[in-house]
Amino acid sequence: MPDEDYRPATPRDLTFRPATTADLPALVALVESAYRSEESREGWTTETDLVGGPRADEAMLLADIERPGSRIVLAERDGTLVGCGHVTQISPTGAYFGLFAVRPSEQGSGVGRQILGEAERVAREDWQLATLEMTVLNVRTELLAYYGRRGFEPTGESQPFPPPGIDGIVVLRDGLHLVVLRKKLP
Ligand SMILES: CC(C)(COP(=O)(O)OP(=O)(O)OC[C@H]1O[C@@H](n2cnc3c(N)ncnc32)[C@H](O)[C@@H]1OP(=O)(O)O)[C@@H](O)C(=O)NCCC(=O)NCCS
Repeated sequence: MPDEDYRPATPRDLTFRPATTADLPALVALVESAYRSEESREGWTTETDLVGGPRADEAMLLADIERPGSRIVLAERDGTLVGCGHVTQISPTGAYFGLFAVRPSEQGSGVGRQILGEAERVAREDWQLATLEMTVLNVRTELLAYYGRRGFEPTGESQPFPPPGIDGIVVLRDGLHLVVLRKKLP
């Protein structure tokens, strides 16, 4: 007999809010765990074998929190941080999405899809923007396919990797560059 009080944890239990300075330590830890750490191998996609060095530090994220037209979105379940993404306005009609991370043990269950949906909502509804752009390393074919299924298309542009002016990145594979993707927001 089904227990009517039982409700499995699903992505629907997520809540979203903008990050504040108080979130910085937990945010840096989340991003490091998802992108380039050994723990990130638990997830379905990682850049551990491609890039070394820190992905984000508190000073960089503090600037992203404080800059007008820039919002770091946190996804929480029962008050625990499970994922994040950063939306920032880059033109009169467009926003950029980055810092996309989900705790490795939570990946693959739709949390990322919901964060992306919230980022699109922020750009479209809160800021009245028409497009969302992102950049992805050219060799991360599984991620390019994932974004393609979310409606992001290559613009044909590419950008150098590491990006100029960013220190501390260790490139572990030749031939890396960033592919620019864009989605027209519905
Ligand atoms: C990218 C990331 C944020 C996505 O979050 P997530 O919660 O895992 O994403 P979802 O659960 O919404 O989606 C998982 C997708 O991976 C697919 N997937 C699962 N296992 C896979 C595998 N072994 N190979 C390829 N795709 C796989 C699923 O089919 C699903 O896609 P679909 O919804 O189109 O079917 C998360 O994986 C992450 O933090 N990665 C490390 C940091 C990173 O690379 N960030 C992006 C930089 S551009």
